Amino acid sequence: MTALANDFPATPGAADTATDAPVEEPRQRRPLLKVDGLAKAFPAPRDGLFGPRRRLTAVADVSFDLIAGETLAVVGESGCGKSTVGNLVLNLLRPSAGSILFEGEDLTAGSDARWRARRRDLQLIFQDSRSALDPRLRIDQQVAEGLEIHGIGDRAERARRVAEMLEAVGLGGEFAARYPHELSGGQQQRAVIARALVLEPKLVVCDEPVAALDVSVQAQVVNLLRDLQGRFGLAYLFISHDLSVVRHVADRVAVMYLGRFVELADRDALFAAPAHPYARALIGAVPAARSRHGRRVQPLSLEGEPPSPLDPPAGCALHPRCPFATDRCRKERPALRPLADGRSVACHHAETLP
Ligand SMILES: Nc1ncnc2c1ncn2[C@@H]1O[C@H](COP(=O)(O)OP(=O)(O)OP(=O)(O)O)[C@@H](O)[C@H]1O
Ligand SMILES: [Mg+2]
Repeated sequence: MTALANDFPATPGAADTATDAPVEEPRQRRPLLKVDGLAKAFPAPRDGLFGPRRRLTAVADVSFDLIAGETLAVVGESGCGKSTVGNLVLNLLRPSAGSILFEGEDLTAGSDARWRARRRDLQLIFQDSRSALDPRLRIDQQVAEGLEIHGIGDRAERARRVAEMLEAVGLGGEFAARYPHELSGGQQQRAVIARALVLEPKLVVCDEPVAALDVSVQAQVVNLLRDLQGRFGLAYLFISHDLSVVRHVADRVAVMYLGRFVELADRDALFAAPAHPYARALIGAVPAARSRHGRRVQPLSLEGEPPSPLDPPAGCALHPRCPFATDRCRKERPALRPLADGRSVACHHAETLP
């Protein structure tokens, strides 16, 4: 796992105001996105030439909601199912089970026409901006393309929106007429962001949006995403394995292990005192992970490697690696359940761990 040694510098008026109490208690507002019992299994290669057909459970029993203007980060090791969750939410994959309600409407049950009408509201920004951009089109043409496809505005209106959006991401003026190869990696990612946001989406799935960028450029792009979120009231589902980035952008964080959420908590609560043993291992490994009072999160080391999702352990999937595992953990899978402090944790012993 890669993690930055230090937190990002705060954008003035952004990072530290993110936790200021809003007028309305946010979790009581109607969710923009409500995901319930989401699961995805993929067909997997046979075990040997004549072995039985197998299924790989990439995501199991994932539930969460997201309100307008909020960022939920999804973290966990490579292969734990983060992108699969994002792709399910964007309807790029069909779930094996569960429901996804967007503004109360079940997108998984709907027809393709219904989904197309919603397409504009849900956008994706992913890691590889170079492959996301068309090398033959100028930046302003690419940003205009979505508006044309969705039939938004006349020519003049589209040109105005494109210019405004490019200005907002710091690619105004002469950049507009450039081709992708004439931009740096950070500028390409800004162009990708402009192309997604010009459609005025309500929810953006950011899948490792800065993982391919230099650390200094990462901070700029992350700060840009935050500024645009404040300006347009966007909700982000922010997928990342980089906890320093997550700490800077998230309101809440979901920690995934082997396809399941094992802890879902407010950012500050999680970074100050992760409750699930896996979250403790993950967050304790970040040098900068300290509570607001400067207390260091006690690192917890897990034994062995993550198991294959093709052959997950019975009971709690973490039990073979967990120093606190008991007989119950070996037999019975813990459900994600709310603790007294508001976070949810999937551990039989969450309240009594040393
Ligand atoms: N189309 C597919 N067919 C079969 N298996 C898949 C498919 N897509 C993903 N998987 C498997 O599902 C699991 C979860 O993959 P996913 O891409 O969601 O992980 P991730 O957490 O995003 O990992 P990373 O941090 O490396 O991007 C992995 O075991 C992966 O091999
Ligand atoms: Mg991924």
